[in-house]
Amino acid sequence: MRDHLHLNHTHMLYDQIEEAASWIRDKTDFQPEVGIILGTGLGKLADEIELEAAIPYADIPHFPVSTAPGHAGKLLLGRLGGRPVVMMAGRFHYYEGYSMQQVTFPVRVMKFLGADRLLASNAAGGTRAEMAMGDIVFIRDHINLLPDNPLRGPNDERLGPRFPDMSKPYDRAFNARGLELAPSFGLRAHEGVYVSLPGPNLETPAEYGFVHTIGGWVVGMSTVPEVLVARHMGMQVAVVSVVSNKCWPPDAIGEVTVEDVIEAVEAVAPRLRRLVTTLVAEW
Ligand code: HPA
Repeated sequence: MRDHLHLNHTHMLYDQIEEAASWIRDKTDFQPEVGIILGTGLGKLADEIELEAAIPYADIPHFPVSTAPGHAGKLLLGRLGGRPVVMMAGRFHYYEGYSMQQVTFPVRVMKFLGADRLLASNAAGGTRAEMAMGDIVFIRDHINLLPDNPLRGPNDERLGPRFPDMSKPYDRAFNARGLELAPSFGLRAHEGVYVSLPGPNLETPAEYGFVHTIGGWVVGMSTVPEVLVARHMGMQVAVVSVVSNKCWPPDAIGEVTVEDVIEAVEAVAPRLRRLVTTLVAEW
């Protein structure tokens, strides 16, 4: 009996992904190769797309609807730097109350539409002394401290393996190219480790110290669930964080509001837009 319930549940997820993807395919026959998720303050990257279709999340079967400030809530299909992409303008966060399956559902749909690469961006706190506000960090690894995992529960082998390997979660060649190009776009770039915490509160000084001590370069409330699901499905993954606030050393820690975070990211967003467009075009 219990096995039956589980079986139905996994089949339901697969069917829902397929329903959402085929609904989108009915609207447009555009075939994306790269999935892009825009984080806080980077929504304007959407303006760089030569648009083929813009679909509100609310119209897509089984899609969650976004509520976070600075997140628009539309799926955009079109060309970025000539490359066919599908872009989420606005992502879902665990702290909004969505299940991990909901948070990651759009990534599943992107893969079903044809994207075999995922680029995600986010705003994050910087937990290394050498990092300044407005620096960007290409993520080379992560430490997942979220209390749930989108892959928990019965596994559907059609989506990916039960125990997905995480020895090479991020595309280091993408990072190397990003580090090489960043200065010519007026950006200071690093490569580092992202630590995911659930939020929605920002971290206490002791918690920032913890992130620093365990090897974190940046800390944020997103991205890792999407990365796990993308890797589960065998997608190549790249992530770029924008340091919106300094969290190390301890005397650099100040009060942070979401407006501060958005403002800090928007200050570098035009430069980052150009860099990301170039990197996606080459990826
Ligand atoms: N902590 C967690 N998430 C964040 C931060 C932070 O300091 N800054 C931007 N997103």
